[in-house]
Amino acid sequence: TTRVLTGITTSGTPHLGNYVGAIRPAIRASRAEDVDSFFFLADYHALIKVDDPARVARSRLEIAATWLACGLDPERVTFYRQSDIPEIPELTWYLTCVAAKGLLNRAHAYKAAVDRNAEAGEDADAGVTAGLYMYPVLMAADILAFNAHKVPVGRDQIQHIEMARDLGQRFNHLYGAAWRAAGGGGEPFVLPEVVIEENVATLPGLDGRKMSKSYDNTIPLFAEPATIRRLIASIVTDSSAADAPKDTSSNVFQIYQAFADADETAAMRRAYADGISWGEAKQALAERIESEVAPMRERYRELMARPDDIEAILHAGAARARALATPLLERLRRTVGLGSLL
Ligand code: TYM
Repeated sequence: TTRVLTGITTSGTPHLGNYVGAIRPAIRASRAEDVDSFFFLADYHALIKVDDPARVARSRLEIAATWLACGLDPERVTFYRQSDIPEIPELTWYLTCVAAKGLLNRAHAYKAAVDRNAEAGEDADAGVTAGLYMYPVLMAADILAFNAHKVPVGRDQIQHIEMARDLGQRFNHLYGAAWRAAGGGGEPFVLPEVVIEENVATLPGLDGRKMSKSYDNTIPLFAEPATIRRLIASIVTDSSAADAPKDTSSNVFQIYQAFADADETAAMRRAYADGISWGEAKQALAERIESEVAPMRERYRELMARPDDIEAILHAGAARARALATPLLERLRRTVGLGSLL
């Protein structure tokens, strides 16, 4: 069986980018016969960006309800909170001790902060916490603690999966022999592969940049239909005449194709060539999104009203996740020379 794992940081309200980049492909993959899925709320990661406890708490509930509303079956999928798995921070430390500092210097999130500081004429590390710097190591521990084979994510996360492979490989190299001496065979870690949905690798936001909580350019997945229509109307387009052919590199088309099947996309491509107006194109997009989202939105509403049911699901999920992580960490502890003296 293939182990598929992915997480979402609980720092805000889930948006269309999270849905098409991670949630939808992960749930589709989880329905296959020979797949064992691990989906989780990355709430330790949330603390890197958010120091407002109420916001983290709210986001955890919203993101949990979103996964379930989108069809995650908690009987089939191990669904849990990162912070319920103490093996993850423990593994983070073992990986920290084999992580080259130079590797972390190259991480996108850290480099972006350094670049922003350079532009503002600030000290390179101004406002950068050690948490932000260590972000990729925590993420590697998320993946390696369950020896995941495949990690479905959006394009912005590719580098992090590569770093998880690097850290896993380095650990295997340094400790492979000790691991085998600690009992059983094989390597400590499976090296994970990234899985990218090509037509939606990066969903653009309202302004054309990547749709992201940090850019405040998102369409929340379960906003009211009127809000979604209003946000779609505000997507930036070029100023070509109403009946002129339209450019399919437009954000409006890019988002449409993330929701449409091949036939619908081909038909819309023809409509663009024939000079559909931006107003009509946006209306078609709003309708396409609404038809996919409406039934899930209803389930989402119901789930948000039953936090105790969600809590029970996460609690059971954590127990199942730990049934795997606890013996792995027990053996890793002996591998690195810790654990019992006897
Ligand atoms: P996060 O919370 O920023 O995003 C969650 C998932 O949504 C994808 N995504 C997008 N995909 C396409 N277009 C977009 N505009 C877009 N915006 C977001 C992201 O690529 C991601 O797959 N560090 C991760 C969470 C994490 C994780 C993990 C993921 C923690 N540990 C282990 C996989 C495995 C993050 O902050 O994602």
